[in-house]
Amino acid sequence: MHAPSPLVPPLSVGLVGLGLMGAPIARRLLAAGVPLVVYNRTAERAREIGEAGAAVADRPIDVGRRASAGIVFVMVTDHPAVRAVLFGRNGVARGLSAGALVVDLSTVSPAQSRATAERLAKRGIHFVDAPVGGSTDLAEEGRLTVFAGGEAADLERARPYLERFSVRIEHLGGVGGGSSMKLVNNLLTIGHVALAAEALALAEGLGLDRQRTIDLLSTGGGRSTMLDRKADMFRKRSYPAHFRLRLADKDVRLVEAAGRDVGRSTRLGREIRRLYDAAIAAGLGDADFAAVFDTLLPRPSGTGAPPPPVAPAA
Ligand SMILES: NC(=O)c1ccc[n+]([C@@H]2O[C@H](COP(=O)([O-])OP(=O)(O)OC[C@H]3O[C@@H](n4cnc5c(N)ncnc54)[C@H](OP(=O)(O)O)[C@@H]3O)[C@@H](O)[C@H]2O)c1
Repeated sequence: MHAPSPLVPPLSVGLVGLGLMGAPIARRLLAAGVPLVVYNRTAERAREIGEAGAAVADRPIDVGRRASAGIVFVMVTDHPAVRAVLFGRNGVARGLSAGALVVDLSTVSPAQSRATAERLAKRGIHFVDAPVGGSTDLAEEGRLTVFAGGEAADLERARPYLERFSVRIEHLGGVGGGSSMKLVNNLLTIGHVALAAEALALAEGLGLDRQRTIDLLSTGGGRSTMLDRKADMFRKRSYPAHFRLRLADKDVRLVEAAGRDVGRSTRLGREIRRLYDAAIAAGLGDADFAAVFDTLLPRPSGTGAPPPPVAPAA
């Protein structure tokens, strides 16, 4: 008879960034029994995930050191934030050994993904860019889409974890492929919201009832997934953030830069981005990106400010 094998404790993975998207992803991984070591720049925001069972590290380097599976996921705002958490003085990269894997779920450009991969490769660390399609609700439900770029073997290492919060994982070639697809996706999703906002503002100007307009649009050729998803926010002019407006603005800027890099027009993208720029200037950067609607409505006479939303934005 064989002696029973000693119990092998399951290996832990790292996750850096517990914002609107990182937090539900952490909850999904924990609910699936994945031992997790997490870091968030604002420590207070890591508390809930710590209470849910994650080990909370004080510095990104400690996430690298304590992720015994040698895999760290990153879900932060943009490329400067990715650089800070990976390559800062106490960055994740210094805590990882050669052969480890970093999976970046953040939305950045393909060129930025490749720059990250090159810098990690100098330490022998593998990299997959894996930005996600879908917002906080789909993250909560484990129904995101992952657009992945990198070596197939690296994606396979990450797949068991990605499957805990996504229903579709698409391998789109080498590093940068995932980011490319994500930017194409976001030009449309962010553009759809801007166009819906412009159409609804025009409807109001023409004296149409907003509720009725939204209902009629939702059965016609002008219908879009984004109009459906944002209908309630447009109706109430209340914009609790699922996807912050300033991040939508960041993404359209990335679209423009990518278009320049490959010599393709992003003229409509530029117009869309100007709408979001104006919304940020009006103080709506931390509201959901559907708040762009408010900047398209007439300003109260005698003020330079846009009309206040009916309910406060998040
Ligand atoms: N929300 C969505 O619907 C959605 C959907 C798909 C993709 N995305 C993309 O996913 C990424 C995260 O989005 P989110 O909605 O979760 O954003 P968020 O709620 O604003 O969270 C941003 C996270 O990045 C961290 N961070 C920012 N700058 C940092 C720095 N310099 N050093 C360390 N940490 C830093 C923040 O830490 P603090 O807590 O300290 O600020 C926070 O954890 C973005 O690239 C976004 O474009 C978002």
